[in-house]
Amino acid sequence: GGINVAILGATGAVGQELLQLLATRQFPLKNLKLLASPRSAGTTINYSGEELEVEAVAEDSFQDVDLVLASAGSSTSKTWAAKAVAAGAVVIDNSSAFRMNPEVPLVVPEINPEAAAKHQGIIANPNCTTILMGVAIYPLHQVQPIKRVVVSTYQSASGAGARAMEEVKTQSQAILAGETPQPEILPYPLAFNLFPHNSPLNEQGYCEEEMKMINETRKIFNAPQLSLSATCVRVPVLRAHSEAINLEFEQPFAVQQARDIIAQAKGVKLVEDWQANYFPMPIDATGKDEVLVGRIRQDLSHPCGLELWLCGDQIRKGAALNAIQIAELLLQENWLKTTNSKVVV
Ligand code: A2P
Repeated sequence: GGINVAILGATGAVGQELLQLLATRQFPLKNLKLLASPRSAGTTINYSGEELEVEAVAEDSFQDVDLVLASAGSSTSKTWAAKAVAAGAVVIDNSSAFRMNPEVPLVVPEINPEAAAKHQGIIANPNCTTILMGVAIYPLHQVQPIKRVVVSTYQSASGAGARAMEEVKTQSQAILAGETPQPEILPYPLAFNLFPHNSPLNEQGYCEEEMKMINETRKIFNAPQLSLSATCVRVPVLRAHSEAINLEFEQPFAVQQARDIIAQAKGVKLVEDWQANYFPMPIDATGKDEVLVGRIRQDLSHPCGLELWLCGDQIRKGAALNAIQIAELLLQENWLKTTNSKVVV
């Protein structure tokens, strides 16, 4: 049994997490291929006690591959995803390259698993902040449709990759040593600082990260009319994102009911100790599968509003875990078929 899997971007932060999750979740693997850029070709990565050699992705990389887990950036996915599909593989793509393509399902298994059935070779894994918000608010949306979302994010360095995580550590050490280091990977110093997300800005002043949260949430929820606004900020945290979310409903939503719903929903964990003033924190979300949700309270400015706070591991549920859960869903439902595949460009 088992299938042939290739990880494109195996040396990256998400690639490394994918490897760990394949092992710990006992994913039914037949063969595992590690692909990255020519820079990493020939290096080895330990997988379950075995040293596997990293290969530079090439035209013949996808022969005999059933499933590609891609996390090597948008341009790499644009170059290779269609080739992998043409070679007979299904691609679960962590980049933004295909997310808004109407032919490509955008899937969070706790929210819209059925969308994966219609894939034509590529399934997109949503943006990390979008996944984390989605698993937290969708259970409420199912009970009472959400009218409007206003979200502010506190995003970790991991979203900018393994090298950005390293930069925050070395930058912190340098600053503590009295130096003024020049940032190389991130655009501005992140240690002892924060800055609005540096993705490209549109004419209305929203950055790409903010527009991803807006557009991707509408697609995943199948709610094209949903009103959303977002402010995305990078903070000096290593690998878990936090979000402050304001929700407006048509009718008042009882706080206790919202807590009960979150306490029972899949993929989230209610973390609230009002006596101790203890709520979700990035250090507690790190390395966890669940998105931690707390501080659920009435919006004092609106009778139909709720406020909540969440933290979730960006590399795990925000990226690698969600991709693996999609893969597990495909296997479970027997949707890992390529007969209806056509090349998406
Ligand atoms: P490499 O390590 O060889 O550069 P992160 O998001 O943590 O920065 O990781 C990015 C991942 O994408 C790495 O595995 C990186 O490989 C890979 N990658 C980047 N550019 C390319 C490319 N042009 N072709 C294949 N893999 C790439």
